[in-house]
This record gives sequence, C-alpha cells and structure tokens, in this order.
Amino acid sequence: MPDLIPVLDKETIAQKVDDIARQISADYKDADLIIICVLKGAFVFMADLIRRLDIDNFGIDFIRLASYGSESCSSGRISLLKDIETDIRDKDVLIVEDILDTGRTLNYLHQYLKEAAPRSIETCVLIDKRERRETEIEARYVCHKVQSGFLVGYGLDYAETYRNLPGIYNLKF
Ligand code: IMP
Ligand code: MG
Repeated sequence: MPDLIPVLDKETIAQKVDDIARQISADYKDADLIIICVLKGAFVFMADLIRRLDIDNFGIDFIRLASYGSESCSSGRISLLKDIETDIRDKDVLIVEDILDTGRTLNYLHQYLKEAAPRSIETCVLIDKRERRETEIEARYVCHKVQSGFLVGYGLDYAETYRNLPGIYNLKF
C-alpha cells in the first residue's frame, strides 16, 4: 500500500479557495465571464470555488481532455474527449484546472479555446507543480505551489482512486 503524506488539510484548502475567489470576484466584476472546468480532476475545486464567488453574472461549462501516458505522467499527446457547449466568442474565459505540471495540457487548451475567439483567457489552478514545466504557460490564479511529488485527494486521482479525500496528499509508493 502506498503512503499518503498530508499536504493540505481541508481547512487550509478552504482558506486558499476563499482568497482566490475574492481575487476572481474583484477582477471579473464587470466581465462577461464563462468558467470552464477541466474534467475530471478539477470538479471538486470548481464546485467549491464558484460557491465562494461574490459575483453571479457568469456561466459555467466543462471540457474533458485525455493525455496519453502512464497514470502519473502526461505524454503530451492530448485529445479532446468532451467539448464545451457554450459559445465563448467575445467572452472572458476562466479555465479551472486541477494541476499545472508540464503545462502541455493547458497549452493545448489555450490554443484550442483561442480558436473560438474569446475576449480573454486566464487560468486558475489548484496546484502549480513546477518540477516538470516544459512550456512558458503560467496560471493567473494559483491556490498552492509545490515543487514535486504526486498529489491525490480533493478531486485529484491516481488511477481513479482517492478523488473523495477532503484533503490533498502526496502519494508515496
Ligand atoms: P501537464 O499537461 O503535464 O501540465 O499535466 C497536467 C495534468 O496531469 C493534470 O491535469 C492532471 O490531470 C495530471 N497530473 C499531473 N500531476 C498530477 C498529480 O500530482 N496528481 C494527479 N494528477 C496529476
Ligand atoms: Mg486533469
């Protein structure tokens, strides 16, 4: 059995989500906002985040990407499994993603969504993992930065396990 080393407990996550929600609420007060959740890993974060926003003039949508590779490392070959259903032309798009790691997934997503001509695109990530970054991409809103490690819980999985944990843990094999 792998060990689960605590990284963030649920109270700390809630505080961080609050901080980010306050910034987003201020920045998008007068915007035409569509928040796009990247399935599956970001769905818990997304659900908490939108309930902490002080604004209510926004739409939500979901997108699902697959990146071929092992369970713990994306290969860079990305394909679209589920597209958004909203017309984002001239909208202010905020992508909500679980983890920014190499950056390949977000890089792909930015390129893809740009084709639909939104007014702006920004990214909000739960975890910014800097160890393996390969692209220039940075997220405007970051809940928590880590240097390395494989994280699970609060929506993050390892082979579909551990998504239900209320906190975030480092999985040690
Ligand atoms: P990137 O394309 O390398 O930036 O990979 C980002 C994607 O890989 C995330 O959306 C996650 O689905 C997955 N991922 C990367 N690191 C972790 C981790 O530590 N735990 C769970 N999923 C991860
Ligand atoms: Mg993901």
